[in-house]
Amino acid sequence: MEFVHRSVLLEPAVDALLNETFGKHRGGGTLTEMAPPTDGIYVDGTFGRGGHSRLLLQRLGPRARLVVFDKDPEAIAVAQQLRQEDSRVEVVHGGFGDMPEHLARLGVQHVNGVLLDLGVSSPQIDDAARGFSFMREGPLDMRMDTSSGITAAEWLAEASLEEIKEVIANYGEERFAFKIAKAIVAGRESRPLRTTLELAELVAGAVRTREKGQHPATRSFQAIRIHINQELQELAGALAAVLRVLAPGGRLAIISFHSLEDRMVKQCIAAAARPGAAFARMPIPESQMPPPVLTSLGKVVPSAEEAADNVRARSAVMRVAQRTDAPLPADQGASFVKAMRLIPLEGSMRAGGRR
Ligand SMILES: C[S@@+](CC[C@H](N)C(=O)[O-])C[C@H]1O[C@@H](n2cnc3c(N)ncnc32)[C@H](O)[C@@H]1O
Repeated sequence: MEFVHRSVLLEPAVDALLNETFGKHRGGGTLTEMAPPTDGIYVDGTFGRGGHSRLLLQRLGPRARLVVFDKDPEAIAVAQQLRQEDSRVEVVHGGFGDMPEHLARLGVQHVNGVLLDLGVSSPQIDDAARGFSFMREGPLDMRMDTSSGITAAEWLAEASLEEIKEVIANYGEERFAFKIAKAIVAGRESRPLRTTLELAELVAGAVRTREKGQHPATRSFQAIRIHINQELQELAGALAAVLRVLAPGGRLAIISFHSLEDRMVKQCIAAAARPGAAFARMPIPESQMPPPVLTSLGKVVPSAEEAADNVRARSAVMRVAQRTDAPLPADQGASFVKAMRLIPLEGSMRAGGRR
């Protein structure tokens, strides 16, 4: 069976990378003035089924290069096919968090644009065998990279009550995390959790849903998936990496689908664009304050038509920024990434606040 993916914010994302005038027309909507085809090096960090990559290739010139990443072997197989058709494409099977190392192996130090369309693709959700969906019976896997790492079932069999609670609370922003973790730990005593529906039913038996029309296991599934794939750690790695790899004038566009990711992106861009404000309370003399290394070009959300047409698009937010020509501070921008105060990467930190 063939699973399809409908790319979210397709035109706006390509505009964000290639259109000189992007960000000068605030207020959303698709921007249509396109710069002439460009010969630069671009990265699509989340190839998926290649919707964004294909449109980028249409708009790029003949000497451009497009390096595409994905963790998922099935996405990589599609990317390899595209490479057969278009020699401008180079394919990396790996996480975008390690972008500089992968690019260095290809002889690339700086790029003109990076796109990240975060999260899982529709083919991953729709294929029951991947174990991402609480609506379809399948093995409790949830790995984007099926060639490495532990599955959700393996993690749930071994993790402590406290760890499970922390993951569900932090990455699912689930108020009933403790109750759910207790039910999982009690349930696995009698029978190991092997399938998606077993987990979904166990969660539904333990708590009622917080949101109308939402399955009680929605937040737990999101949380476990984020943990299994280390999604927020990868994003933090990518934000640090992008500051290093973007050439002056290079663009960054990140599409996120939940507030945990969007908050990280927003805070990192804000810190890199206005270091004075981000580090105002730190004992750094004005003369040693790093110069801005990014300029924010704003955010774009899907049009009403796109949201009506594609349910997945409804929660999407794309943030766009441009690298200035200021050199990176001595720490290579690590302090801008650390300025993401709400990042729940450690057990003791709770996700909170607003977008
Ligand atoms: C929303 S889909 C991208 C869809 C794509 N833009 C398109 O138009 O077809 C996200 C993809 O990113 C991949 N992915 C998620 N996190 C990743 C990471 N840290 N490194 C590499 N790939 C990742 C997933 O496996 C998935 O295929």
